[in-house]
Amino acid sequence: MPRKLAAGNWKMNGLRSSLVEIQKLAERHSDTSVDVLICPPATLIEACRGLLFDIGGQDCHTAQSGAHTGDISAEMLSDAGATYVLTGHSERRTDHGETNATVAAKSQAAYDAGLTAVICIGETLAEREDGTTLDVIDQQLAQSVPDTATADNTVIAYEPVWAIGTGKVPSSDQIAEVHSHIRARMLDRFADGADMRLLYGGSVKGSNAAEIFSIANVDGALVGGASLKADDFSAIINALE
Ligand code: G3P
Repeated sequence: MPRKLAAGNWKMNGLRSSLVEIQKLAERHSDTSVDVLICPPATLIEACRGLLFDIGGQDCHTAQSGAHTGDISAEMLSDAGATYVLTGHSERRTDHGETNATVAAKSQAAYDAGLTAVICIGETLAEREDGTTLDVIDQQLAQSVPDTATADNTVIAYEPVWAIGTGKVPSSDQIAEVHSHIRARMLDRFADGADMRLLYGGSVKGSNAAEIFSIANVDGALVGGASLKADDFSAIINALE
């Protein structure tokens, strides 16, 4: 059974004063039985050292260093104390034109720096309505997940784009269908595909977390808005424990 993971993606939110939320969370979940990951903005990673949970970046460059003004490398994230990095989040794919090939290269850069990549995939509303969700997922998995992925260095996060920050959540059957499809693809491709963690993301909150976590092949969640406040994220961690 894969280890359960509650991951929070703070996106472009959070100042030093927000660290108190992680401190509160750590006090409440000091003996948690699940893995907890916080991905704050890069400016806060160093300040999160020693705060009990795993810390991740939200993006990394494909290169280890070089003339890439404003970018951050996987090695720098690791140097600052991160052990994970998100790759291929839909906001990166949309806002920065990241392709599956870019996501694969970033994920490989993460592995090379010793980080675990949380590789994000998911269909748009138009793709869901066209009935092409599983084709999109197949293509994203085939092209965004490097051949060197293992259950240790990779987590897959299924985030339907239309569920992100909208309060809309797919039905349990829809989540189950996609997650079992992803599991089958990972089993086809990787010897340890059964142990690879599959997260659901998109409008997860305390009130729907237990139902989502009861779905087969859902090993945790990637949470945006509800990860910013200790009270909200704590309810999600409780549902996963
Ligand atoms: O990466 C997490 C995210 O995209 C989901 O955001 O705010 O819908 O939980 P939210």
